Amino acid sequence: MSQDTTTGTVAPETITERVRDRYARAALSVRAGGDGACCSADCCSADRADDPVTSNLYDAAQAEGLPEEAVLASLGCGNPTAMIDLREGQVVLDLGSGGGIDVLLSARRVGPTGFVYGVDMTDEMLALALDNKARAGVANVAFLKGRIEEIPLPANSVDVVISNCVINLAADKGLVLREAYRVLRPGGRFAVSDVVADGPIPAGLRSNMEAWVGCLAGALDIDTYKALLVEAGFADVSVEITRRYTVAEAGLDTSTLLADWWDGDGKLASAFVRATKPLPASTAAMTTDTREVSVSKANTGGGRRRGSENVYGTGPRP
Ligand SMILES: C[S@@+](CC[C@H](N)C(=O)[O-])C[C@H]1O[C@@H](n2cnc3c(N)ncnc32)[C@H](O)[C@@H]1O
Repeated sequence: MSQDTTTGTVAPETITERVRDRYARAALSVRAGGDGACCSADCCSADRADDPVTSNLYDAAQAEGLPEEAVLASLGCGNPTAMIDLREGQVVLDLGSGGGIDVLLSARRVGPTGFVYGVDMTDEMLALALDNKARAGVANVAFLKGRIEEIPLPANSVDVVISNCVINLAADKGLVLREAYRVLRPGGRFAVSDVVADGPIPAGLRSNMEAWVGCLAGALDIDTYKALLVEAGFADVSVEITRRYTVAEAGLDTSTLLADWWDGDGKLASAFVRATKPLPASTAAMTTDTREVSVSKANTGGGRRRGSENVYGTGPRP
């Protein structure tokens, strides 16, 4: 079995609380008129125009029509919806939806017959996302409070799982990937932007909590990421690097790091991670297009769990 060794000696609960605290502050900063800038170690800085991790992820055409606050609240390291085709009527789930930018972009693409869920554990982020949903005036969106290690949706209820710079923050990535697999319908796709490690990350960097909550220290090694996806049941696994950055470029103050930090230079990268939940053998002979349309239509709305107490906003409930 593949080992996620990213957490070292830090307790999972400590990681979760520190991450929650960091992103609560980021959300409050955006709501107060600043920007979040947390998917680099330079959290809540006033100026991130040159940040190689977070800057220039969305082009003007994509951002057009979105609430400015949603764009400002973007804390990702990629642009998952630009990397995957989404179709009318599909159900999409965004793991760690933050201020909601990728949820709102997906909602446009799946149209009124589709639906998009965002899951996030941080109340302040959920409040920000709700504000942005109201500003955007979209109905086919709901934000759910929850941890991506325990997704508050039923099995086989989603066509596409997206995420943007979140899985690296989780203490147990294998569990997150198994949960993503569980909620996807057979034939469903996993399409995630994340920070990855393209080579060994030194222990001093791994154990630095500032680097962890800034999306760097928890980055999975590429081979481990692929192996954990396969162990979760996924097929067609691929990892495509989209950007590389040095430790200093990623916003860490290297004077505060243990002396081995420089071995991390050139190994941190943003990547797009793809995988598919295989179809059962009996349907695998059908063509991809036919089967995706029929699976999506057959299940639209039918698989959503009713009565969750943690749904933020209106619209269909899971
Ligand atoms: C770096 S931000 C990215 C937000 C958003 N995806 C974007 O691109 O703007 C990370 C987000 O993931 C959420 N998050 C981190 N770990 C989580 C977990 N284990 N379960 C649920 N949400 C989590 C945080 O609250 C925060 O909103």
